[in-house]
Amino acid sequence: MARQWLNFRPQQLKLNGLSNNWTNRQQRPKRLRFGRECSLVCFFVFVSLYGSVLWKHHQHVKIVQVVENDTFELKQNSNDPTVSVNVVDRISDSSKKRQEGTPKNSRGKFAYAFLLGGAMSTKPGSDHRGGLFSVAVAAHNLRRHNSTADVVLMVQISTLSNATRLPQQQTEVLQRLNIDVIYLPKYADPKFEKFYNLMLEKFRILGLINYDRVLYLDYDVMPRCNLDYVLELSYQGVLKENVVLANLLEPSSGGFFVLAPNGSDLLRLQSTIMEVENRTMHMKFPHWDSATGWGQAFENGDYWITSKGEKGYEWDWYGVQTDQGLLYYWTKYIQRSVSIIVNHSIEQWGSKDGRVWQERIDEGVLQQRSCSAGPKGKAPPYRDFVHLTGRKKPWHSNLSTLEQGIRSKPMEKLSSEELWLWLLKDALASIGMESEVSLDFIKGEVENAALGTTPGNRQRNMLIKNKAKVGWNQYQHNG
Ligand SMILES: *[C@@H]1O[C@H](CO)[C@@H](O)[C@H](O)[C@H]1NC(C)=O
Ligand SMILES: *[C@@H]1O[C@H](CO)[C@@H](O)[C@H](O)[C@H]1NC(C)=O
Ligand SMILES: *[C@@H]1O[C@H](CO)[C@@H](O)[C@H](O)[C@H]1NC(C)=O
Ligand SMILES: *[C@@H]1O[C@H](CO)[C@@H](O)[C@H](O)[C@H]1NC(C)=O
Ligand SMILES: *[C@@H]1O[C@H](CO)[C@@H](O)[C@H](O)[C@H]1NC(C)=O
Ligand SMILES: *[C@@H]1O[C@H](CO)[C@@H](O)[C@H](O)[C@H]1NC(C)=O
Ligand SMILES: *[C@@H]1O[C@H](CO)[C@@H](O)[C@H](O)[C@H]1NC(C)=O
Repeated sequence: MARQWLNFRPQQLKLNGLSNNWTNRQQRPKRLRFGRECSLVCFFVFVSLYGSVLWKHHQHVKIVQVVENDTFELKQNSNDPTVSVNVVDRISDSSKKRQEGTPKNSRGKFAYAFLLGGAMSTKPGSDHRGGLFSVAVAAHNLRRHNSTADVVLMVQISTLSNATRLPQQQTEVLQRLNIDVIYLPKYADPKFEKFYNLMLEKFRILGLINYDRVLYLDYDVMPRCNLDYVLELSYQGVLKENVVLANLLEPSSGGFFVLAPNGSDLLRLQSTIMEVENRTMHMKFPHWDSATGWGQAFENGDYWITSKGEKGYEWDWYGVQTDQGLLYYWTKYIQRSVSIIVNHSIEQWGSKDGRVWQERIDEGVLQQRSCSAGPKGKAPPYRDFVHLTGRKKPWHSNLSTLEQGIRSKPMEKLSSEELWLWLLKDALASIGMESEVSLDFIKGEVENAALGTTPGNRQRNMLIKNKAKVGWNQYQHNG
């Protein structure tokens, strides 16, 4: 792997990848199939930039664009001249600062990151506003509960749109809510704009190198309260630098995880993706070896486990070929340092004699830090957020029914969808835009996903072959 990464041409290291929004993970169909429903894909990510001051509306927007030659364009303000910064310089810069700068016990710099992919797609029924305003809701609720972390939204504009930015009004909302927008490069062709690829884009949070820890959340995750404690415990070493959450059906949720940004890790992860794609695309159908998966067999008692306590010994869980498998592989076998939260237990994985090693299992560590009363019996952090999967997406509800609910019930009796709408209205009111922003995207019907349905194994293989044809340079040149 090391050799591979040294040989890797910089042009190829273009931040592959994006966010996943497996909606409805709970009801996913069979193992090794991708969710049928990625809804409006969302995506995104990346790069931080100088400190940002929360609560300072109207200024300090950072629009960062990753341009084709691995530089970032960085703007403090839309009127400012663009500054291009070479990625490699920025990486070494930031590592230096971190080593000299931050004493262990000081507070780290934290961010939440979201991904919105396929934005502004022209496909019928592909409105991205549900995802975009969900990020506004999440950011607003975190800050209502005194979160001090930054919020970053990675946006990838659909190849089907000629636009390069979100519409002015949406940009204004994000700006006033102090959500940093980072534009990812567009794909060069619609054939690359597929669910499988988008899911991989979320790993770009590794490039947010001005932060000590980043908590990635799918945009349909609605925090109930201040989740900063997860980032703090990771920074303080109670949890490892990588934190992964097991779910009912898989050992690693692609919708909630913490990584410690590190530019060279991002490049290494990119080359891992390329290497595994290159290896599996020549395999017989289903173009996947569930014994070795991303590159490591489960052996000598090694296992994976779901939050229900079911163990497995093969790379065969839902989403294993994309984000949910790569996350597990990357944190446990490459980094060999991860806290995997499995219901009330926390498995602490490290390494011993160069091999992955379970150091211990902690119990009850998060109990005192949990920020909500949550549903009874549910462990933190599960109880501290709601995953608005599938039909529970509030913008698939009937707006007037939700409004009726808000009018007639006390706050603590609101359903998740009603609370979401309440928070959205409260967020817009807090920035004086309540009457300007249309909520006509909240409709009583489920619409198509911007990126269509998600590919099965055959489609995944076709996509990978297309990536191979262009030498894994699947992004459009910018400008
Ligand atoms: C990188 O791209 C930017 C913007 O397109 C351009 O101004 C700059 O000269 C390029 N830098 C290199 C090293 O090619
Ligand atoms: C980034 O990760 C590399 C290993 O991939 C490590 O050598 C380096 O120390 C890390 N940098 C920082 C700032 O942690
Ligand atoms: C947030 O901070 C304010 C001011 O310190 C405090 O009054 C309030 O109770 C805090 N809110 C929460 C949810 O902790
Ligand atoms: C994008 O621009 C091309 C060329 O100008 C034009 O043919 C096409 O209709 C435009 N697409 C959209 C969605 O506006
Ligand atoms: C893909 O794998 C083949 C061998 O199977 C190797 O020759 C080739 O260099 C690899 N390509 C990349 C981009 O790694
Ligand atoms: C988590 O643990 C609690 C208490 O032991 C149990 O009631 C619950 O069913 C578990 N959750 C899952 C998803 O297994
Ligand atoms: C929402 O519900 C109201 C009342 O139940 C109904 O009149 C309206 O047609 C519904 N709207 C949509 C978009 O389904």
